[in-house]
Formats: sequence, C-alpha cells, structure tokens
Amino acid sequence: MSAPVITVDGPSASGKGTIARNVARALGFHCLDSGALYRLVALASLHARVPADDEERLGVLACELSARFAGESIFLEDHEVTKELATEACGSRASEVAKLPKVREALLARQRAFRRAPGLVADGRDMGSVVFPDAALKVFLTASAAVRAERRYNQLKQKGIDATLPSLFRELEARDARDAARAVSPLVPAPDAVQLDSSDLTIDEVVSRILGWWRERADGVRA
Ligand code: DC
Repeated sequence: MSAPVITVDGPSASGKGTIARNVARALGFHCLDSGALYRLVALASLHARVPADDEERLGVLACELSARFAGESIFLEDHEVTKELATEACGSRASEVAKLPKVREALLARQRAFRRAPGLVADGRDMGSVVFPDAALKVFLTASAAVRAERRYNQLKQKGIDATLPSLFRELEARDARDAARAVSPLVPAPDAVQLDSSDLTIDEVVSRILGWWRERADGVRA
C-alpha cells in the first residue's frame, strides 16, 4: 500500500510551507515544498537566460533540474540558492513558468517520488487536485490578502530580503490571479478538500486543527 499523503494547497503566503513542515514534524512524515521546484526551474531559467515563454527549453530544464534539498537548505547544481529562491522576483517568475504544461509534466514524477513511508505532507497549488488525488487528507488553506502580504513581509525581513508592504500586496494579488486563471492545474480547491481560513489563527492553532482532522480520519479507518 502507498504511504499516506496529506496535501496543503492554497494561495501565496497563506502559510502553507510552515504549516506543512510543522504537521510533517509532528507526524514524523516527509515534506514536499512543491513551490520550491517551480522556483528552481525559474532560477535555472534566469541563469541560462531562457525566456519565460520558451516552453520547449523550459520543459527540458525542468526535466534535467539538478536540485538537492538538505534540511532547510536548497541547492541548484552545487550552489546553495535558498535565499535567491525566496525573493518575490523568483516567486513571480515561478508563477510564469508554472503556466506551461511541459514544465508541470516534467515535475510530476519528481513530486510523486517524495511519497515514501511513513508518509508525506505536500504543499503547493495542485497537490490535492492533480499530484496526489488519492491523498488521505486534503487541506485548502487561505488567508486574506492583507494578512498574507504582512506574513510575507515579515518572512522576507527575517531572511534579510528588502521589500515594501504595498508592493508585496500588489505582487501577491497579481500572482494569485495568474495561478488561478491558468488553463493547466489552476489554483482551485480539490472538491474533497477541507477549507481553512487562517487569517485569525496562529500557526499552532492551524497545525493542531489539521492534526485533529488527521486523527479523526485515522480513527475512522480503524473503526
Ligand atoms: O508556493 P510558492 O510561492 O513557493 O510557489 C511559487 C509559484 O510556483 C506559484 O506562484 C505558482 C507555482 N506553483 C504551482 O504552480 N504549483 C505548485 N504545486 C506549487 C507552486
């Protein structure tokens, strides 16, 4: 039997990454940050000067991506790129390349390979709808745009990356609109996802709610 999967999808800066990491830690599961893979393709395309609409070459780049995850650090070839990946410029380029079917197709098997015992928590935009449609628990995490812009601002500040709140707000809205409007794997909740608005919740509250749903499901399976 395949290892169980919990998916956490939602718009930019909804807190998916932090929540997914904490849920995975609590359960001793592996963790997949699928956005990092799209960001890596984006960064590789900038380095190789491949235009954001050259689907053929971007598909090949995504296929041949030499990426390594080591704890919180991410490497492209042999270079650590964790900080570069976190910039809004990279996020916005990632959202451009993520529109292309050949890029998404190239990353599919790579994402599914993260599914290993004892289980996986995967975060992104289409984890529950496309990549792991048979996930045991699907969460769609939202928060108001103002709350998300402020969270992203604090996150970037902590990493020593410059940003202003009004420009972040505009970029987030533009990125969400692009992610939701694209033809392939748009950002939409899977029909069987549980929706959770985290605007007024702390990280710990969101994590414990998800762990509660997970336990309910596990008890349901045992009963
Ligand atoms: O989650 P993030 O901000 O790191 O993602 C960066 C971009 O990558 C996001 O704007 C859209 C794209 N993405 C996607 O299309 N599908 C995913 N599963 C994850 C990210």
